Amino acid sequence: MRKTIRIQVALAAVILLAGAVGFAQSGEATYKAKCQSCHGVAGTPSPAMAKAMGVKAASDPSVMSKTEAQMIASTTNGMGKMAPFKGKITDAQIKDAVVYFRTFAK
Ligand code: HEC
Repeated sequence: MRKTIRIQVALAAVILLAGAVGFAQSGEATYKAKCQSCHGVAGTPSPAMAKAMGVKAASDPSVMSKTEAQMIASTTNGMGKMAPFKGKITDAQIKDAVVYFRTFAK
């Protein structure tokens, strides 16, 4: 009896964890995990990264003039030295990360 309850509690914890990781990953979390290393904490790359990879700041006029759809396309299909994210993360994660990136453009 005790054992059954313990197993149920363990199962519930696993399900909760899976839900948190699989469905509730915010754009911010995706950005921090997958984009920040090149694009910088607040959408501005380090000078070294900007020079080596050609990454532009989110606030750069040439980046700011892009629509959300254009940015999703660049991220999905790749741009310059950024490899395509298609198939590496979900389309929803790409969109949410772009939406988060765009908050740095203002
Ligand atoms: C390996 C480094 C790297 C990573 C990781 C990376 N990017 Fe990029 N990103 C680049 C480079 C390089 C460009 C192209 C800049 C250029 O050529 O103007 C770029 C361009 C972009 C652009 C278009 C901006 C523009 O200049 O028009 C967007 C939007 C973007 N990235 C979003 C993302 C998102 C969202 C992620 C995470 C899911 C991500 N990037 C991860 C390096 C990276």
